[in-house]
Amino acid sequence: MDTEAPQDPRKSGDWISGNGHACRLEGLLNPSSYRFEILEKERLSESVVRMVIRAPLVAASARPGQFLLIRPLEHSERIPLTISHADRAEGAITIIFQEVGATTRELGGLDPGQLVKDLVGPLGTPSDIRRFGTVACVGGGVGIAVMLPVARALKQAGNRVVGIIGARTKDLLILEREMREASEELIVMTDDGSYGAKGLVTDALSRLVERERVDHCYAIGPLPMMHAVCRMTKEKGIPTTVSLDPVMVDGTGMCGGCRVTVGGEAKFTCVDGPEFDGHMVDWDTLRARKSIYREEERLALEARSGKA
Ligand SMILES: Cc1cc2nc3c(=O)[nH]c(=O)nc-3n(C[C@H](O)[C@H](O)[C@H](O)COP(=O)(O)OP(=O)(O)OC[C@H]3O[C@@H](n4cnc5c(N)ncnc54)[C@H](O)[C@@H]3O)c2cc1C
Ligand code: FES
Repeated sequence: MDTEAPQDPRKSGDWISGNGHACRLEGLLNPSSYRFEILEKERLSESVVRMVIRAPLVAASARPGQFLLIRPLEHSERIPLTISHADRAEGAITIIFQEVGATTRELGGLDPGQLVKDLVGPLGTPSDIRRFGTVACVGGGVGIAVMLPVARALKQAGNRVVGIIGARTKDLLILEREMREASEELIVMTDDGSYGAKGLVTDALSRLVERERVDHCYAIGPLPMMHAVCRMTKEKGIPTTVSLDPVMVDGTGMCGGCRVTVGGEAKFTCVDGPEFDGHMVDWDTLRARKSIYREEERLALEARSGKA
C-alpha cells in the first residue's frame, strides 16, 4: 500500500465529510458505476478468510491504518474491516477477517465472481508512520492482519521492525510469511507451544525489551492482549500505539456508537482513530461498552443460521 499522501478527494469528485474528514463513498454516490466483485478468496485458517475485492476508488486513496465499512448482502449489517492491502494498479483491496458472528459469516460465504452489496471507505485516520528507530509490532490472532500494512509502512520508513505474532495454536496463526518480510526479525508465539515458542506475545515482548532498546511499540489484537502490552510498556516508558475495534454503525463520527475514552476525553474511533495512544485509553470502559450487544449478537447469529 502506498504511504504517500493521496490526491485530495474533495478535488476529484465523490466525497463526503464526516467530522471534517473527507472520504469517498464508493458505490453509494455512483451506484451503477461500481460493482464490488470478489476477485479472490482464500481461507488462511479455519475461521479466517482473505478476500480481494474490486474497489478502484478506495484502492486509489487507502493508506495504512484505514478501514472500510462493508455490507455483504442486502439484509446484512455494515461492519468495519481494515484495508489490509490496496493495489492501485489493479483497483482492488484486500481484507482479512475472522468469522465471528452473523455478518462476517455472510461475507465468508461469498465466492469469487459474486458481488458485495456495498462498501464505504477509506475511513479513519491513517497510521502515524514516522522514523521511530526500533519498533516492536505485536499482533495477536486476526490482529496480525490489521498490523501487516502498518509494519510494512514502518519498515519502508526506515525503522528496525521486530515483529511479534501469536495465536492460540499453530493452525490459527496467519500471515507468518508476510510479517517475516515486513520485519527485520520475527518472533512467533503459540499459547500451546505447537509452533514457534510457547507462551504469550507479552512474554516475547518482555524478553525483547530486556534485550534491547525499543523506541516505539504497536499492539493490535484482542483487547486483553493490547491492555497487557500497554501495562508493560507504560512501566518501561515505551510509547505504544493500539488499534481499537469497538462496535461501529455509521463510520462518520455522527452516531457516537464507537465512542471511547482516551486521556479523559470522549473520542470517536471511526474518525479520531482507530489508532490511539495505548497508555491513555480507558480500558475498563471500553471492555464494558464492547459487551453491551452480546445478547443481540447471539440472537442475530441464531436467526441467520435458522435457529430462531
Ligand atoms: C476499525 C476496525 C477494524 C477492524 N478490522 C478487522 C479486520 O481487519 N479483521 C477482522 O476480522 N475484524 C476486524 N474488526 C472487527 C470486526 O468489525 C468484527 O469482528 C465484526 O464487526 C463482527 O461482526 P459479526 O456480525 O460477524 O459479529 P457480531 O454478531 O457483531 O459479534 C459476534 C461475536 O464476535 C465478537 N466480536 C464482535 N465484534 C468484535 C470486535 N470488534 N472485535 C472482536 N470481537 C468482536 C463478540 O464476542 C461477539 O459476541 C475491526 C473492527 C474495527 C472497529
Ligand atoms: S461509528 Fe458512528 S460515530 Fe463512529
